[in-house]
Amino acid sequence: MCGIVGYIGSRDATQVILNGLKRLEYRGYDSAGIAVLQNEEIEIRREAGKLTNLQRLIEAHPLSGRIGIGHTRWATHGEPSARNAHPHLSATGDVVVVHNGIVENFLELREELSAEGVVFRSDTDTEVIVHLVERYLSSGTDLVEATRKALSLLKGAHGIVILSSREPDKIVAARIGNAGGVVIGVGDDEMYLASDLPAILEYTQRVVFLESRQMAVAYQDKLDITTLDGKPVIFEEHQVTWDPISAEKGEYRHFMEKEIHEQARSLTDTIAGRVNIEDGHHIHLPELNLTRELAKHIDKIIIIACGTAAHAGMVGKILIERIARIPVEVDIASEFRYRDPIVDQDSVVLAISQSGETADTLAAMEEARRKGATLWSIVNVIGSQVMRIADGYISMQCGPEIGVASTKAYTAPLVDLYMLATLLGDLRGTLNDHVREQLIADLRLIPDLAGRCLEREDGVKKIARKLMHTNHCLYLGRGINMPTAYEGALKLKEISYIHAEGYPAGEMKHGPIALIDKAMPVVVIAPKDPWYEKMFSQIEQAKARDGSVIAVATDGDELILDVADYVIWVPETPWMLSPVTTIIPLQMLAYHIAALRGLDVDQPRNLAKSVTVE
Ligand code: AGP
Repeated sequence: MCGIVGYIGSRDATQVILNGLKRLEYRGYDSAGIAVLQNEEIEIRREAGKLTNLQRLIEAHPLSGRIGIGHTRWATHGEPSARNAHPHLSATGDVVVVHNGIVENFLELREELSAEGVVFRSDTDTEVIVHLVERYLSSGTDLVEATRKALSLLKGAHGIVILSSREPDKIVAARIGNAGGVVIGVGDDEMYLASDLPAILEYTQRVVFLESRQMAVAYQDKLDITTLDGKPVIFEEHQVTWDPISAEKGEYRHFMEKEIHEQARSLTDTIAGRVNIEDGHHIHLPELNLTRELAKHIDKIIIIACGTAAHAGMVGKILIERIARIPVEVDIASEFRYRDPIVDQDSVVLAISQSGETADTLAAMEEARRKGATLWSIVNVIGSQVMRIADGYISMQCGPEIGVASTKAYTAPLVDLYMLATLLGDLRGTLNDHVREQLIADLRLIPDLAGRCLEREDGVKKIARKLMHTNHCLYLGRGINMPTAYEGALKLKEISYIHAEGYPAGEMKHGPIALIDKAMPVVVIAPKDPWYEKMFSQIEQAKARDGSVIAVATDGDELILDVADYVIWVPETPWMLSPVTTIIPLQMLAYHIAALRGLDVDQPRNLAKSVTVE
């Protein structure tokens, strides 16, 4: 996700900002930019790609000053390019802004500003912010008040930093919601601003964190903080003792643990801007380029993906078939092109890929293209090949995933597929208003439900201690939670090196039941969903063979206590979204077992984050 750095003091702002942005590279980005106040004017340099490109540009066109702001951008609206990179400048050139988050009502604001004569120079949602601030500044308001007025018009969650050449003694920053943190580093007659601690710890360890709906005005020698409606805030300065590297992981031991815990937020971002309850409960996925006509013409969808992404696709099959009544096949990407698949102009091939660079998935997409299918993708890395070669895409919006074992990039596509199914159902007329409204109401619950699963980590940790020495583990699931069994087993095997098998529970009696004895832990995924009763009888069969049963079950399910040795409770969840809440504890279980075994959780042996070979 995007990174922000700002500086006011007597050092060379360009250097401080570039160093800070470098420290945030781990967050992933696709373009970068910097604005510095030079000879009383704002000068900007922006470049697509890595920071070294921006550095080269600055070497060719130097930039110097004592106050400035910078940004690394992870594209959400508009392609990764220099013109879409932050900072964004107002028409007069007097105000400049960098921003994390999504302006959910940007289309509306853009229209309003265009009608006032504003000419937009990027495809970003962020640009509306700078024009709004400029609108109020030019009516005689000061920068702080103009920012306050502009922010009151924005929907969504944001971290924002603003600089103006009309008031060169300050930088203004604000935080609304959880999309972007803002931290202010207090130096000796200098102030630093950043989205994340690692950017500034090299310079100061005295920091102040902005809370949601607070605004900071950083001067060289003082800091004022108020609420967004102008009430003064008494703030506390903290002394941070982390080194910059461990600060990237924050309070977590591993990136995987951090990413598991980011899921309440990543799911909020996944939904943000896509659900419109004001215009009658509809889903908006504009980058997919899906028209009503196309929706009506699709005669089948083939989902192609590998590993975790393929498991998400299996959930997607159930959702799309159930909600939009379109037949869906799920193909492992490495198998697809070698079996001469039946695909034509009325087929849609949907590739799912976190990295967007997986060689097998790309090869399968090429095969689908050759056969004339429409190509869609669900992808996390904007600008990646899987995104670029598709006719339309859905971005996961869950930020960079660093741990090799995918976690937040599994739950985000589950929700994307749910939204896609709902949109297809809407366009094809398979949903009545009541059902669609219910689906959307359920969708809005999911970030909170994910958060409630995360709060239960201690219980999962206790079970991890019991299982840490096991050599084998069987995972069983049915229906929409059968892929949860596959994914839970994959998580365990890839980071803990314990042999784990995911199986459709109904298949157990056709073979794997022979394996069950006291030494075989059986993880059963048994939430209250339409398959619950069938699942229950399979748990009894495992129990009768002395298996040690660990059940993932819905809060309040008394019956499960009779058949399970250990229960991992999950909050009651609408069944079509239950794979989100059932997988989170299994991610935590795998994580804690691997951590207890002292393994390299983030970089397990033999695995790569992006598998670019066939
Ligand atoms: C997930 O934990 C794995 N590391 C792996 O299965 C991964 O999902 C697979 O390689 C696909 O990657 P992609 O999503 O980047 O295409």
